[in-house]
Order: sequence, then structure tokens, then C-alpha cells
Amino acid sequence: MNDQPLQCDERFFARLRQRTAVGGVVIFLIPFLLFTLRGLINYARPGPLMLSQVSLAQLVEDALAFLAHQPMFRNITLDNQVPASLPSIHVDPNQLSQVLMNLLLNAAQAIPQSGRITIAAKQLPGEKVEIRVEDTGTGIPPEVLPHIFEPFFTTKRGKGTGLGLSISQAYIRNHGGEIEVKSTPEHGTSVRITMPLHQEVREEQRQLEVIG
Ligand SMILES: Nc1ncnc2c1ncn2[C@@H]1O[C@H](COP(=O)(O)OP(=O)(O)O)[C@@H](O)[C@H]1O
Ligand SMILES: [Mg+2]
Repeated sequence: MNDQPLQCDERFFARLRQRTAVGGVVIFLIPFLLFTLRGLINYARPGPLMLSQVSLAQLVEDALAFLAHQPMFRNITLDNQVPASLPSIHVDPNQLSQVLMNLLLNAAQAIPQSGRITIAAKQLPGEKVEIRVEDTGTGIPPEVLPHIFEPFFTTKRGKGTGLGLSISQAYIRNHGGEIEVKSTPEHGTSVRITMPLHQEVREEQRQLEVIG
């Protein structure tokens, strides 16, 4: 049996390991770079909305069910106050799910030991909906607050990309909505999204619309 290719591979990897400490670091960084790149591409060019009619309560339930299993949420009470009776909303479910995940992750990361995250929603006059994500975390100092939507702004040295809120804002604005943050240091943070229940469908979006 010819085992040369295997030897060759071993030598190749041995050399790679020995000679290129930099290579190791680059390989280690690849998932991070890809994540950042994907975020950037989405940020720069959010693309047409893939619209469908969805239940906000279901979207929130799915996001919470996914996150509840993450170790970071072990000591956090997740309080879901989104009424199932809300009318369905016309959105890009992928984009709105990503926004909810970003906000819930930020909330969890702001809670040092244990605390509570509340997610609530209600219909507003003028065919709009409000979604609130509130946490009992560390809050945001007033001098930091004006910067949190800037791309790459992070206070999580080495652990954050600083893209979560800027991408979330781009997605919500894509839906004709707005996102605002109020915070009381040492008490917590409240993120409020307001957006229309329906989207005016442009022709190129109409072709992409998922009938659901
Ligand atoms: N719920 C929150 N509580 C406290 N600080 C927050 C919260 N959400 C966002 N921030 C602040 O805003 C910054 C930017 O958030 P984001 O864009 O999601 O980037 P990242 O989470 O990668 O740092 C965070 O680094 C943090 O300082
Ligand atoms: Mg974040």
C-alpha cells in the first residue's frame, strides 16, 4: 500500500505548524473574519426584503426557545409578554429574527450575574407595531449612548464586533421603522422598535414575496 500522500500531508501540516505561527492565528481568525464580512456585506447592501406575513408572537417564541438553551441565559429570566392576539405583521422574518437575536444577546451580555429580560409588543395607532426589549443589566453610560449605532463601535473589548446594533438599525429602517435606546446606568436598558404592520411592496419585492 502506498502511504506517501499521508506522509506528504503530515509533513505539510508539520511545516505549516512550525513555520507559520501567523498562519495559525489567521486560521483561528477565519470564522470571526467571515462573520464580520457577512455582517458588513449585509450592512452595506441589505438587499430586497423577502416579505411574508408572520406572527410576531411566534417569531419571538422561536428566538427565545433557541436562546434559552445557551449557557449565557442560564441565570436570566426571560419574560415573554408578546400577546398571541397581535395581528400578523408583514416583514422579512429573517431580518426581524436577526434583530431580535442581536437585542436579546446584547441584553444578556449586559447582565453580570442574574437578571431579567422582558420582551413585549403592542399595536400602535396608524397600523404600526411597537416591540420592546428591556433588561436589568448594567445600562449604558450617557457618554457611550450616542455611539452605540456606529458600525464597529463596541465596549466588549475583543468580544464584540460592534455590528449588532448598526445592522439591526439598517434592517428596521429597511422596513420603514425606527429603533431607539433608553438606558439608566446600573438599572438597565430599554430598546424600542416601531415599525409599520404592512410594507408597501415595490415591484422587485413583489416578485420575491413569499405567499404565506
Ligand atoms: N442592552 C444593552 N445594555 C448595555 N449596553 C448595550 C446594550 N446594547 C448595546 N449596548 C452597547 O452598545 C454597544 C454596541 O452594541 P452592538 O452593536 O450590538 O455591538 P457588540 O454587542 O458587538 O458590542 C455594545 O458594545 C454596548 O456597549
Ligand atoms: Mg451586540
